[in-house]
Amino acid sequence: MENGRVRERGFTLWFTGLSGAGKTTVAEIVEKELRERGRRVEVLDGDIVRTNLSKGLGFSREDRNVNVLRIGFVANLLTRNGVAVIVSAISPFKEARDQVRRRIIDFVEVFVDAPLEVCAERDVKGLYKKAFAGEIAQFTGVSDPYEPPAAPDLVLKTAEEEPHESASRVIEKLEFFGYLPTERDPTYRWDSR
Ligand code: ADX
Repeated sequence: MENGRVRERGFTLWFTGLSGAGKTTVAEIVEKELRERGRRVEVLDGDIVRTNLSKGLGFSREDRNVNVLRIGFVANLLTRNGVAVIVSAISPFKEARDQVRRRIIDFVEVFVDAPLEVCAERDVKGLYKKAFAGEIAQFTGVSDPYEPPAAPDLVLKTAEEEPHESASRVIEKLEFFGYLPTERDPTYRWDSR
């Protein structure tokens, strides 16, 4: 207990994967579920972060890594204050992801794994069409690399399951790690720190 309040265990749930893989879609469902369970939640989405915190950064390897490290910095501050942090960013390079992972103790890495062809077919933002036409340079998966995580905590095959199924598996994983109380142990609260 802290000031009469039970302290909840913060965590960073980090979604990595290609543009259009479904990171934001799944993140939104998980966010809603966490709020319904009474958690304080903050979402750091690459597209949004790039309009403020990372405004002006481009898509070179260096700029992407700076973007990821900035997101990681904020995520860490929130996590250590008991917030449930959801990050969705392509975060294509292992070195930057691992750097963040080392810094944030309570870190759950989720690989949103959809084949490039599926992402390009969905083309929600119309960017793949432009990338394949050579109108966007350094586009992840087309003309820029994506390094899949070697040992993610969870892999979501979003071409094979519905967003709600993926989100359920994320929630189960959070319960498994002890970040959320389970039905079997509804009173569970982490306050040992
Ligand atoms: S990251 O590589 O630095 O992690 P981030 O997730 O913040 O990327 O931003 C990716 C978003 O920027 C994409 O969803 C897409 O809307 C947009 N975007 C614009 N140019 C590119 C590009 N060259 N490669 C990938 N995404 C791009």
